[in-house]
Amino acid sequence: MDKVVRVGLLGFGTVGTGVVRVLTENASLIAQRAGTAIAIKKILVRDPNKKRALSTAAELTTDPASVIRDPEIDIVVELLGGEEPARTLMLEALNQGKHVVTANKDVMAKYGRELFEAAEKNNVNLLFEASVGGGIPIIRPLKRCLAANRISEVMGIVNGTTNYMLDKMTSEGMDFATVLAEAQAKGYAEADPTADVGGLDAARKIAILASIAFGTRVRLDDVSAEGITKIEPEDIDYGRELGYVIKLLAIAQETDKGVNARVHPAFIPLTHPLAAVRDAFNAIFIRGDAVGDAMFYGRGAGSLPTASAVCADIMEAARDIAHHSSSHILCTCFEEKRISPISETESPYYIRLLAEDKPGVMAAIAGAVGAQQVSLNSVIQKRRVGTRAEIVLITYKVKDEDLQLAVQTLSGLSVVNKVSTVIRVVGVDAE
Ligand code: NAP
Ligand code: HSE
Repeated sequence: MDKVVRVGLLGFGTVGTGVVRVLTENASLIAQRAGTAIAIKKILVRDPNKKRALSTAAELTTDPASVIRDPEIDIVVELLGGEEPARTLMLEALNQGKHVVTANKDVMAKYGRELFEAAEKNNVNLLFEASVGGGIPIIRPLKRCLAANRISEVMGIVNGTTNYMLDKMTSEGMDFATVLAEAQAKGYAEADPTADVGGLDAARKIAILASIAFGTRVRLDDVSAEGITKIEPEDIDYGRELGYVIKLLAIAQETDKGVNARVHPAFIPLTHPLAAVRDAFNAIFIRGDAVGDAMFYGRGAGSLPTASAVCADIMEAARDIAHHSSSHILCTCFEEKRISPISETESPYYIRLLAEDKPGVMAAIAGAVGAQQVSLNSVIQKRRVGTRAEIVLITYKVKDEDLQLAVQTLSGLSVVNKVSTVIRVVGVDAE
């Protein structure tokens, strides 16, 4: 073991600090398992004078070229976040013949193809396990362990911030702003948490997973994304009464209509395995024709869990360098498949609305939704809000485009003051 594989880190924030910690504290077992010692030589930061949570022997620099052009550095690990300069620096590193490891789903979801092409051209590896599911192994299982399966569905909770927030809002009645601040303080949220709460972070992750699972490029624009910003405490309360919990789900399916990928809040039964996924944990179900159902569960965000995945990628690249081998699996999008829009998907729905509290209103509501082929499974009227009645409708399974028309029709009724929330119900057999 005379060679030392040298790493250049781009970023020394939440994840970068975790990577330095794991590579330092577990150095000897990592060297044994990788077949080579691994040392961090340089770290790119914005502000080298900032007080850091961890001290390091590596040189801190603000000059990206001094890292990615350093001939002694074999592996560049990008942990800056955001699209630029991360994308450009990763491309330059690949073109310099460096292996690249990243946790960046923003770049992988949008520029995966061009990065894979650069890696292929330069015969180096591009590894991105931490970009989805934090510490949970999911990219490598999909690319390797489940590679013999025809996969029909990938579904789960892939954003730690929103799962943490929904969990605290449900179990402790915390308000949105307070619990978001907590998730930020714990290092779960992105630098700009809009992507977490708006569903974009989960959309990027399901685009990556769907592309690998179905062997076709699923672009970010192909994913319909809705976050948790419209969820109100009333919806959480009604859900509890009905035996549901609200989760932000990312779902990708391949059907005879093509591939669909979407992110939206959903009511799931309290008995569903995803209902037990709490805090910042993530869980991902995969359905394959040979394996059946497989579930991956663990910490989806945070410094050390994410570092665990990044360090495994560094070790994979280091092993190849040490053994002069090349075990790369780069782009696996071998086919162009039809993207099936969310309007073609089906599920039961929960609709909460405010209406006039007078005779004939229920009949008008039932008639309006019935006209769009939407039939009602149950109707609840429990309380008044001022002079209005709050009404909750649960539909049977309905096509999304019919449901949207029904909501438009409802909103146009003179007796309906406001359609407050519309949430899909997932994991029930309501026909
Ligand atoms: P972070 O805490 O904001 O850290 C970013 C680091 O990059 C900081 O050290 C910052 O320098 C440096 N940096 C940013 N822009 C730079 C620039 N233009 N030039 C030089 N340095 C720059 O971010 P993070 O939470 O570690 O996330 C890093 C990546 O991992 C992101 O892609 C994120 O999506 C992904 N990820 C994060 C988690 C998580 O739980 N946090 C989980 C999975 C994946 P300074 O320290 O000097 O400010
Ligand atoms: N902000 C992300 C999350 C980090 O909360 O899941 C992990 O990708």
